[in-house]
Amino acid sequence: MQAFDIKHRHPLKGLNTFGLDVYADTYFNLLHTGQINQALDQINRAKRYLLLGGGSNVLFLGDYHGTVVHIGLKGKKVIGRDSRHVYLRLGAGEIWQEAVLFCLANGWGGLENLSLIPGTVGAAPIQNIGAYGVELEDSFQDLEGVELSSGKTRTYGKTECAFGYRDSIFKRVAAKTFLITSVTLRLRLNAKPVLAHEAVSQQLRTMKKSAPTIQDVSDAVIAIRRRKLPDPAELGNAGSFFKNPIVSSERYLSLQADRPAAPGYRISDSEVKIPAGWLIEQAGWKGRSIDGRCGVHHQQALVLVNSGNASGQDIMDLATAIVTSVEDTFGITLEREVNVIGPPA
Ligand code: FAD
Ligand code: EPU
Repeated sequence: MQAFDIKHRHPLKGLNTFGLDVYADTYFNLLHTGQINQALDQINRAKRYLLLGGGSNVLFLGDYHGTVVHIGLKGKKVIGRDSRHVYLRLGAGEIWQEAVLFCLANGWGGLENLSLIPGTVGAAPIQNIGAYGVELEDSFQDLEGVELSSGKTRTYGKTECAFGYRDSIFKRVAAKTFLITSVTLRLRLNAKPVLAHEAVSQQLRTMKKSAPTIQDVSDAVIAIRRRKLPDPAELGNAGSFFKNPIVSSERYLSLQADRPAAPGYRISDSEVKIPAGWLIEQAGWKGRSIDGRCGVHHQQALVLVNSGNASGQDIMDLATAIVTSVEDTFGITLEREVNVIGPPA
């Protein structure tokens, strides 16, 4: 198996959707499973390492003084079928949107509501990507990977992944210690479209689709996303910078007493999810620019943008100011969704 190329002082500008002009001391692209032993050797010798997919959920505070391992493992293989499902194994480095398109072309349902989410297949389970009424876990079968310290391969089933809202075991106990090499999805034959999200059904009405197919749902989701979210190729961003906070029903009722228009979505008998975008907008941040370098998107207050020449620290300072301001205004603490890559501890 061909050895990979190890690069020094490698530019990461094209490998983070904030478009930050930062460099990795050492970098290599892991392209084949046959290179894993060599990769483990490099990782275990590095003073610090970072596993990187598409860089659409990371914020670099500066150059990365360590080894960046770009996960480029490709491959698509149907590994099983039953009367209602197809089981598709995808290499971790496959592009998520290409996987969505591949499934749609074959008429396999499950991923259509997750259309146009940037990034790779291998990163999708890390925060259990979600959009428009669906989360990765709804189509997840299992994943394979390697424990970085022991080199042992391991399979994680759905229960072991402990998926939650923008959460999984890979953000907690297995954080940064496990390299996901492939993900197997359980896709539906003759799938019924998931129309629970109001924005999707509204968009389908606009498109005059009274009996929508999964392809129509994908088209609707893409139309909504193109309207609402900035394209990182034009304006650097990492999607939602914060998670939507989950508060107790009592906390939500007291907020509503103050602000009757406060939106909230009941997620259990005792908890309500509040859109962080609303909290940030109400705290006065929507559309604000910090010296023309970075700012809060004018259409979606949950998205922080690099207006062209921000540093990672500029964006981090903005995020910190927003957290303080939302805390002061509402007594609610926003938690970051984006993974901040700071200097060594
Ligand atoms: P990266 O940013 O490269 O990495 C993210 C994390 O995963 C890092 O901690 C990294 O170390 C780790 N990681 C990456 N690959 C592996 C691997 N193979 N093994 C182990 N660890 C790994 N997210 C949503 O959930 N829903 C949305 O609707 C959504 N919309 C977005 C819109 C825009 C415009 C943007 C820019 C982002 C959006 N995101 C959304 C966030 C992002 O696209 C997802 O989190 C995506 O899964 C990140 O994939 P990535 O390959 O870019 O991961
Ligand atoms: N809102 C405002 N002002 C804003 C933005 C939003 O008031 O500037 C309020 C409105 O009430 C709006 C509500 O927030 O109805 C929800 O907004 P939106 O539909 O844009 O969704 P979101 O909650 O902001 C979440 C995810 C997105 C995902 C969409 C669609 C999180 C943190 N974000 O955003 O995921 O695409 O729903 O399902 O859960 C991401 O994770 O990066 C991401 C983009």
